[in-house]
Amino acid sequence: MVRIENSKLTVVGAGSVGVAVAYAALIRGSARTIALYDIDEPKVTAEVLDLAHGTWLSGSSQVIGGADPSVAAGSHVVVVTAGAKQKPGQTRLDLASTNFEILQTLMPTLLEHAPHAVYCIVTNPCDVLTVAAQRISGLPASRVVSSGTVLDTARLRWLVAERAQVSPASVHADIVAEHGDTGFALWSQARIGSTPVLDWQAPDGHRFTPRELDEITQSVRDAAYRVIEGKGATNLAIGLAGARVVEAILEDQHDVLPVSTVLDGFRGLHGVALSVPSVVGAAGVLHVPDLTMTDAEADLFHASADALLATQRTLGI
Ligand code: 2OP
Repeated sequence: MVRIENSKLTVVGAGSVGVAVAYAALIRGSARTIALYDIDEPKVTAEVLDLAHGTWLSGSSQVIGGADPSVAAGSHVVVVTAGAKQKPGQTRLDLASTNFEILQTLMPTLLEHAPHAVYCIVTNPCDVLTVAAQRISGLPASRVVSSGTVLDTARLRWLVAERAQVSPASVHADIVAEHGDTGFALWSQARIGSTPVLDWQAPDGHRFTPRELDEITQSVRDAAYRVIEGKGATNLAIGLAGARVVEAILEDQHDVLPVSTVLDGFRGLHGVALSVPSVVGAAGVLHVPDLTMTDAEADLFHASADALLATQRTLGI
């Protein structure tokens, strides 16, 4: 594993999600330098100070930042979290127009200072905005990724692990397609250890049924709405998901993560970004392998693509 020397991560947006990404990266030691950029100077200055005050107690990162986009200079990875967030009951796709407008001015500014970075779009709807960011920037699709369903997959693995009475690390199951209401679990490929999920018997005798798998998928789709109802936003788990993608890039891990990139012929799809378990390394997404899916799963995948393309059409992308 060749770790990028003097690696630099810039997080754009000092809201609850951006700060969570920066904080997770600080604790995990994801980057040598962590920069936080936001146009709200008092806010970003305070968040940089609050993070920097912890550097003795955390990893070996240096924390910098401010309201001038030049803080992003020389970044290897730029994580974009700036934008409006869902209000209770609002879908991620409802944010498309507002956050597309922000991206149209933000991307050229960032590219001026970090032209060689891999860009990771977290702002929602992250899949649609990944297409937008790639179009606006003109960067190769491999260098414009989204955290996509990494967060949904983490939720799925936790839900399954609780019922299977194992660690989430032993649950090999992914949510694919939209980071949103049309994303779905690829149950046909799901394993606990080396055991297909429907063959698993937990220590207490619990076995999964097809109905319970459907309920788990719905719980993943409902997860953000539940958290937003209670605390107004999600930030902690998406912060960890963002840091995980950053590490795969800065450590050139060649790890397979369900990130979202603009597809170029995958299952006949073009010009739409959906999450597929992909090989992630220093240059961004290195490889998008085909997925083994049942016919029903393939239909769900195309239905998800159709939903995202419909939103893209409203934006003219
Ligand atoms: C989440 O899923 C809101 O997209 C954010 O937590």
